[in-house]
Amino acid sequence: MIIRSTPDHPIRSSDITPEGVYHDRRTFIKEAGFAGIGLAATLAGARRASAQQGGTSIGGAELKGELTPEEDVTSYNNFYEFGTGKDDPKPNAKNFRTKPWSVKVEGMVAKPATYNLEDFLKPHKLEDRIYRHRCVEAWSMVIPWMGFPMADLIKRVQPLGSAKYIQFTTALDPQQMPGVRFPVLDWPYVEGLRLDEAMHPLTMMVVGVYGKMLPNQNGAPLRHIVPWKYGFKSCKSIVSIKFTDQMPATAWSVATPDEYGFYANVNPTVDHPRWTQARERRIGELRRRETLMFNGYTQVASLYSGMDLRKNF
Ligand code: MTE
Repeated sequence: MIIRSTPDHPIRSSDITPEGVYHDRRTFIKEAGFAGIGLAATLAGARRASAQQGGTSIGGAELKGELTPEEDVTSYNNFYEFGTGKDDPKPNAKNFRTKPWSVKVEGMVAKPATYNLEDFLKPHKLEDRIYRHRCVEAWSMVIPWMGFPMADLIKRVQPLGSAKYIQFTTALDPQQMPGVRFPVLDWPYVEGLRLDEAMHPLTMMVVGVYGKMLPNQNGAPLRHIVPWKYGFKSCKSIVSIKFTDQMPATAWSVATPDEYGFYANVNPTVDHPRWTQARERRIGELRRRETLMFNGYTQVASLYSGMDLRKNF
């Protein structure tokens, strides 16, 4: 994020993925081989239900025509464990092992447990959501994610009344992650949300993109997305989810507290100390756009009523 400036990204019209590609459910089911027939059937059923309910409706309908080419979504990445350049994660994460994978749920919950990924996913109905994805360095994308509401998971593990926050911890494996040799961050990458932010229907656990399983460079096999926040709030390759009553440490606010706060709501009126946040460049476009408050997801404003968002940046 802060290490070096990024080169302009070349876009070719041939990169633009037809919408039908990400709607190809069969690809997803086939690639979900880890899940076995039982889960594949569940996924198929869930997707039918999702389609009937209009699964792309939240923030998605008006964005369909603006999808960022799949090639850009999967090759222009921030994943510092695999290098600090935007084009490092794709080649460097190629052989990252994501099977088997387990997720530890711990802290202030009635049902703490370590889950195998497939057990973890099984009860949840997958749906598509097309979201604006806004990075702190003033570039943005529009991405068709696939996953399930984080609220479903939270309800399942039953947080105690005392739990106020969730902390996410991501994978740390120096054998497989060349980037963690460098003390760019205090590894592992951690992030956190207030419990009400995590419960908001827009907040999502993500397992796929463009109708396929998440590629490693995008956070396989499990990440989360909070569409009204800067991209660094969404952790890739999550291994632990902890419920707590204390505001958790977050990777970037530990590294440079004056530049990155806990809330990280997209806010055109609060600049990063070294650059403006008032405008952004959608990957694939030359002109800059005005950045929208909460990345355009104004329905979350009530979560912050009465708060000074200049102080709570
Ligand atoms: N998660 C981990 N584990 N490591 C990282 O370096 N980078 C963050 C976030 N999640 C990061 C991470 C940042 S800075 C951004 S902008 C988004 O991932 C980028 O997500 P994308 O590559 O899918 O666009």
